[in-house]
Amino acid sequence: MQVVRSAQELKNAKKNLSGTVGFVPTMGALHDGHISLIKRARQENDIVIVSIFVNPTQFLEGEDLDKYPRRDEADKKICELAGVDILFMPTIDSMYNQDELKISAPKVRGYILEGAKRPGHFDGVLQVVLKLLNITTPTRAYFGKKDAQQLALITQMAKDYFLDTEIVPCEIVRDSDGLALSSRNVYLSEDERKRALSLSRSLKLASDMVAKGELNCKKIKGQMRQELLKNVDKLDYVAIVNREFKEIDKVEIGNSIILAAAFVGTTRLIDNIWL
Ligand code: PAJ
Repeated sequence: MQVVRSAQELKNAKKNLSGTVGFVPTMGALHDGHISLIKRARQENDIVIVSIFVNPTQFLEGEDLDKYPRRDEADKKICELAGVDILFMPTIDSMYNQDELKISAPKVRGYILEGAKRPGHFDGVLQVVLKLLNITTPTRAYFGKKDAQQLALITQMAKDYFLDTEIVPCEIVRDSDGLALSSRNVYLSEDERKRALSLSRSLKLASDMVAKGELNCKKIKGQMRQELLKNVDKLDYVAIVNREFKEIDKVEIGNSIILAAAFVGTTRLIDNIWL
């Protein structure tokens, strides 16, 4: 595995390799969720590139940029073991210029739900993902359904900007107790972790209601809120959208995503289920 630190170094490393390229962008502190994306990229491509870059432009003022977990050495070993060919760990200076041209998230889909709670977050995500895709020029790029709105916006960007990369959605990996894996789970105390389980529990509750024939989103969201409010410290939102990320009143089986976002202690967690 080659570890490279700038776009130019990555391009040089790629010159010696040929075949299809699978790319997995991450912010590091790798867990089994990230590893599942890397494994899938390994199975489906000749070359696998992983990036680790804690992208400053997608963090808002007061968010956890400075304390975001960094585990470079452990991450390198994980990538090596997973058969990664090139690990791209760029410096901030090599990725950004002063007063640079910026891409904006779409005004509606980019500014509802996560985008409403974290205005500008998706501008930063799209800005860095576009750069990363242009640097790595992958055949396929792998993203988790865990960040459903991010996945929807990146898929839209690939379409709107005629990118030559297939965006591949990947299933959410959970701990055995149901908690969706996240680099931010390390912030949780034992008690907070227990209370954090109410996110996946509320989603299970929702899918059980749907399985029993309840399609009324208001009723489903009401039940979810009850479960969450007993456990979390601040509920950001509960929402049911279609795959276009439009809020819906009636669950459309095969075309719906149920989402929840909440603070447990000072840690903000998101989770969702695709029905
Ligand atoms: P990060 O949070 O490190 O996640 C990297 C990728 O792993 C994303 O596609 C995310 O959806 C996926 N992922 C995280 N947890 C997962 C889980 N439990 N199961 C399956 N996939 C999971 O998302 C980002 O980084 C950044 O915004 C990035 C796209 C790298 C741009 O900076």
